[in-house]
Amino acid sequence: MSLAPLLELRDVSRRFGGLQALDGVSFALQAGEIFGLIGPNGAGKTTLFNVITGVTRPSSGQVLWKEAAIEGLPPHRIHRLGLARTFQNLRLFDSLSCLDNVQVGLGRSDRRRALELLALFGLQDRAAEAAAGLAYGDRRRLEMARALASSPQLLLLDEPAAGLNPTEKQELSSVIRRLAAELRLTVLIIEHHVPLMMQLCDRLAVLNFGRRIALGRPEQVRHDPLVIEAYLGGAGGDPPPEVSP
Ligand SMILES: Nc1ncnc2c1ncn2[C@@H]1O[C@H](COP(=O)(O)OP(=O)(O)OP(=O)(O)O)[C@@H](O)[C@H]1O
Ligand SMILES: [Mg+2]
Repeated sequence: MSLAPLLELRDVSRRFGGLQALDGVSFALQAGEIFGLIGPNGAGKTTLFNVITGVTRPSSGQVLWKEAAIEGLPPHRIHRLGLARTFQNLRLFDSLSCLDNVQVGLGRSDRRRALELLALFGLQDRAAEAAAGLAYGDRRRLEMARALASSPQLLLLDEPAAGLNPTEKQELSSVIRRLAAELRLTVLIIEHHVPLMMQLCDRLAVLNFGRRIALGRPEQVRHDPLVIEAYLGGAGGDPPPEVSP
């Protein structure tokens, strides 16, 4: 039996002037999946997050949440449906405490829940500290704690491991897996660290120049000639060195 997908992209395109940032992208996420989005710099990954979360309208195509079209809805409406995200460039309230950063997402009422969320990321002892004072890895974790405050069904993470050291990357991967299981979350994650993605994700889609060039389980994607070419062929620059087969 196949269930209706939680989120479905149908032929999504987005043009910025003369640039085709997204070109007919389609795929669907089943509830409970950890789904990865990889691709060289400029491939359109963040643009796709922006389209899903209502920050950017698609030029054409559909975004379906539980089979209902949501493209063109404002971000706060989409957020209320149960989609929450983190940003590639962190967006924390630097002068607020860690606790307040999470409580902003909770409507400031639920202190106990905010502390629980901080604890999920090992930040319970930092609750009273200003976000500005945290080390980079902790700032990334705080942003995730805040995103979870709205109890989303789908969590979109834009490069959550960027700037983390190898140990922190490994820990992050376990935390994401635990969250997905404990909170019954579906996760859509963008990340350049390909080995981490291969290990973490149930399925992956690969974007290159706005087009979906591969889709499947990690072992399928890893050996796809188009994927190897996209990374090693120099497209977009800055190919992750870990990708060599
Ligand atoms: N608001 C915008 N206006 C014009 N061009 C944009 C806009 N947003 C993104 N682009 C362009 O669209 C393309 C895709 O950008 P996007 O940020 O989605 O890539 P990405 O896959 O997230 O890259 P990275 O891995 O570097 O984060 C790039 O060429 C980018 O310059
Ligand atoms: Mg990006």
